[in-house]
Amino acid sequence: MLTSRSSQLKYGIIFGALVVVLAIVGLMAVFPTATNQGYAPEQPIPFSHRLHAGQYKMACLYCHSNAERSMHATVPSLNICMNCHSIVKGDSPYIQKMKKAFAEGKPIEWVRIHELPDFVYFPHKRHVAKGVACQTCHGPVQEMDRVYQYAPLTMGWCMECHRGETTPRNVLQNVYPQMKNPQGPVAPVNCNTCHY
Ligand code: HEC
Ligand code: HEC
Ligand code: HEC
Ligand code: HEC
Ligand code: HEC
Repeated sequence: MLTSRSSQLKYGIIFGALVVVLAIVGLMAVFPTATNQGYAPEQPIPFSHRLHAGQYKMACLYCHSNAERSMHATVPSLNICMNCHSIVKGDSPYIQKMKKAFAEGKPIEWVRIHELPDFVYFPHKRHVAKGVACQTCHGPVQEMDRVYQYAPLTMGWCMECHRGETTPRNVLQNVYPQMKNPQGPVAPVNCNTCHY
């Protein structure tokens, strides 16, 4: 009696687990392109953009100058922080952690937030050159205490702007005068533009 009841319980649990697994697989089929929109990992040091870029009005390019000149925007190395923090707020435990890492020549292991799959090519420089604001793709970073992924970064999202559908007005004004046909796509939409 006891054994049969416990095996009934066992089958019940297995069946229940199966239903859950099938439900997850089903949901993944309905939403095939998962997006990390909203992803906001905790960072090793609680660096605040609201404080630095918002309150103190530091320019994005002061720390992310590579966005203007290369493919990746990149996160600044500690020597940029030390321009101020060798003096500013030296009593803070976070600043002390930064000073120690700097003295030992170790980087801060920031957790990557935005990341496209390897088979996608995305050059920051080309976008910045045409006047696409950081905030168009990254949201109001200057109001964020902790950065989160603002845009879906899906292929459809890239395409809508390249086709001219969601393109900010200032970008249209920068791009169209240089084109023979100032309508329609503002940037290429053929597959090998973004895929290797
Ligand atoms: C004082 C230097 C500094 C300034 C100024 C600054 N940032 Fe940052 N930014 C950082 C650091 C450090 C990180 C990594 C830690 C983090 O994610 O908060 C970062 C991370 C980011 C990320 C996320 C990177 C990832 O992993 O995907 C984005 C997007 C970003 N910054 C955009 C901006 C924008 C837009 C501005 C201007 C409004 C700006 N930043 C101004 C230092 C700076
Ligand atoms: C242009 C000067 C400047 C630069 C460059 C700068 N900061 Fe700051 N930072 C400040 C100021 C000012 C404060 C506020 C100090 C206060 O609250 O009195 C601050 C505060 C902080 C705090 C909060 C400390 C606490 O415990 O309250 C952290 C953490 C921090 N900064 C990290 C960074 C990191 C990481 C970088 C480099 C990516 C950086 N800062 C670059 C000026 C700067
Ligand atoms: C057209 C959209 C777009 C614009 C404009 C844009 N970014 Fe990005 N950003 C992205 C995408 C997409 C990624 C992920 C790239 C990858 O994984 O290769 C990213 C990644 C980043 C990262 C993470 C490190 C890296 O280089 O991958 C930082 C930091 C960043 N952006 C900062 C900025 C700043 C600062 C500006 C403005 C000067 C800016 N971005 C403008 C779309 C944009
Ligand atoms: C808000 C508008 C916008 C978004 C969003 C956007 N782009 Fe662009 N993209 C542009 C503009 C404008 C250009 C510049 C076209 C030019 O130089 O004339 C461009 C150029 C490019 C180029 C260079 C094309 C060439 O001529 O070789 C690539 C590659 C590219 N984008 C990839 C992407 C990818 C991948 C994404 C999504 C992750 C994306 N873009 C999202 C507006 C956008
Ligand atoms: C403007 C940039 C851009 C162009 C042009 C573009 N793609 Fe993409 N594509 C992306 C991005 C970004 C991703 C990754 C995000 C995602 O899966 O939505 C992607 C993902 C994909 C994937 C993987 C989908 C998945 O679910 O994982 C395939 C397949 C693909 N693209 C095929 C194409 C084909 C075929 C074309 C030409 C008709 C094309 N792409 C043109 C940006 C682009």
